[in-house]
Amino acid sequence: MPNTEFSSTILAWYDRHKRELPWRLNTDAYSVWLSEIILQQTRVAQGLPYYNRFIKKYPEVEDLARAPESEVLRLWQGLGYYSRARNLHRCAKVVVEQHQGHFPQTMEELRTLPGIGNYTAAAIASVAFGEAVPVVDGNVYRLLSRYFGISTDISSSKAFREFFKLAASLIDEERPGDFNQAMMEFGAIQCTPKQPGCDACPLQQNCLAYAEGLQTKLPVKNKKTKVKQRYFHYLLINGGNQILFRQRQEKDIWQGLYEFPLIESAKQHFLNELDHPILDQLREIDIVFNVEDKIHRHVLSHQVLNVNFVVINVDESSKKNLELKDYDWYGLEEAEALPKPVLIANYLDSYLNSIHLQ
Ligand code: ADE
Repeated sequence: MPNTEFSSTILAWYDRHKRELPWRLNTDAYSVWLSEIILQQTRVAQGLPYYNRFIKKYPEVEDLARAPESEVLRLWQGLGYYSRARNLHRCAKVVVEQHQGHFPQTMEELRTLPGIGNYTAAAIASVAFGEAVPVVDGNVYRLLSRYFGISTDISSSKAFREFFKLAASLIDEERPGDFNQAMMEFGAIQCTPKQPGCDACPLQQNCLAYAEGLQTKLPVKNKKTKVKQRYFHYLLINGGNQILFRQRQEKDIWQGLYEFPLIESAKQHFLNELDHPILDQLREIDIVFNVEDKIHRHVLSHQVLNVNFVVINVDESSKKNLELKDYDWYGLEEAEALPKPVLIANYLDSYLNSIHLQ
């Protein structure tokens, strides 16, 4: 089938099956940008409530630019990859300060903004401004590699150029934004990673993967991400209904988020076996560690965190003697409002519930 048929088939499918989503009603650059940044991080169903909360709180890019970073991180809480949220905020500031509140209109210029790569730039340029540039995301790699039987390793550096060129040759010049969204939507709903819906697929007839039964072999992705194990002990230290937190500053996971005093060890250890300045201080005030032996496993894209939480109650006089560098005391309500990794937010919630029940 000639390529125009590929485009018209996928657009016809999109017109019938597309989901009604708020950023499809209002295709201004700010809405498209915000939705795409969120959707890089999660699926449509999970991203939708986040999008709605952001738009409600920050109806215009100026509102987001003016917001304190910790508020933006708090709204992002649960999506993970917090550097995306910090870049989102930085990007809003750049748009307001350097572009008079208007997003640039071409893929090339959009790519110069913080947190906007090829994918987001093409999505905004095509959907909001009608530029005929293709989006290449995981959905598009999957759909094209299967349909055309392409076995290029999609984690290789040449893959992007190859698929970009192919998608550019297919794009509908009249409806580039719809074409791109159709490709992504089709990948998300029809040409899914596992058990694609081939039986009812409008592209079945000319799909190479279907013809040769290669759906599960394509796309080829060889690079295995190495997963690093890390071992965290978090101390929830309660001194008269105030809890110690610090803001993570390091270039590491969770930059900008708040956490309890942390002791990280190279291997799985009991807290009693470890040496650490925080523990020295606690031992000095005769704290006995009441160690729960439940290890919470928290899986991130390149790391698995093995986390042990320890609750420590300190009385007023011990509290005065406790001076942990970088950590401050927060009241219970203040603590709840801080932007935190979900793991810590959940632990804090269950802890607060348990003390309120007592
Ligand atoms: N995934 C990322 N962006 C998308 C969009 N605009 N439509 C459908 N799925 C998407």
